[in-house]
Amino acid sequence: MHAVGIVPAAGSGLRLGADRPKALVPLAGRALVRWSVDTLRASGVGDVVVAVPGDELAAFAAVLPADVRLVVGGATRTASVRAALAAAPEAADAVLVHDAARPLTPTDVVARVLGALAGGAPAVVPVLPVVDATVSVDGDGVVTGALPRETLRRVQTPQGFARPVLADAYDRLPPGAELADDAAVVRAAGVPVSTVAGDERSAKVTVPHDLALAELAVAR
Ligand code: C5P
Repeated sequence: MHAVGIVPAAGSGLRLGADRPKALVPLAGRALVRWSVDTLRASGVGDVVVAVPGDELAAFAAVLPADVRLVVGGATRTASVRAALAAAPEAADAVLVHDAARPLTPTDVVARVLGALAGGAPAVVPVLPVVDATVSVDGDGVVTGALPRETLRRVQTPQGFARPVLADAYDRLPPGAELADDAAVVRAAGVPVSTVAGDERSAKVTVPHDLALAELAVAR
């Protein structure tokens, strides 16, 4: 199996409140996107395509290895992955899509995703259980029901796919459609998505508190 890594890194990171795109924000002196690319490479995924904001190509090139392919991303995560997929090397028969915003994903998680693909799964995502009681609310914030958390999971990345499965699902997706992640894209095409264990260390950096926690984790 020859897997290519796709890293969508074209988000602005408004919720982080940084002075630059979130993927370029440093964690222990290394840009978030570099952490994610290094994790893929340490897991044996050598070919990596990164989707970046169109006006930041030089800034991303400055923090990434020279052999990482850069493509201009889109207005949504879905559009950014679509652009990177189009630039993936022909030889790759599997694709791992990994958020730039998950710098501390352990290589074990990547290995579990690759293992499921090697075992024949067409699509696989790392997940964690939901530990809090989980409810639905109405427009006024009043609780309308409780969800059975035993059946719920939090989905992380990298998400793994047989390449033809992901490519076909993106081909079927109407232009401009925006879905939460790539598992949702293949599910929309009727593909079953399996799960492997995720890891709390693979948390996504979204708000300043997440970055503070990540700084503490690498300092330990
Ligand atoms: O905003 P959020 O953290 O959910 O974004 C998840 C990932 O998708 C990030 O790595 C972000 O850079 C990427 N993204 C993108 N293109 C966009 C929006 C988000 O590549 N237009």
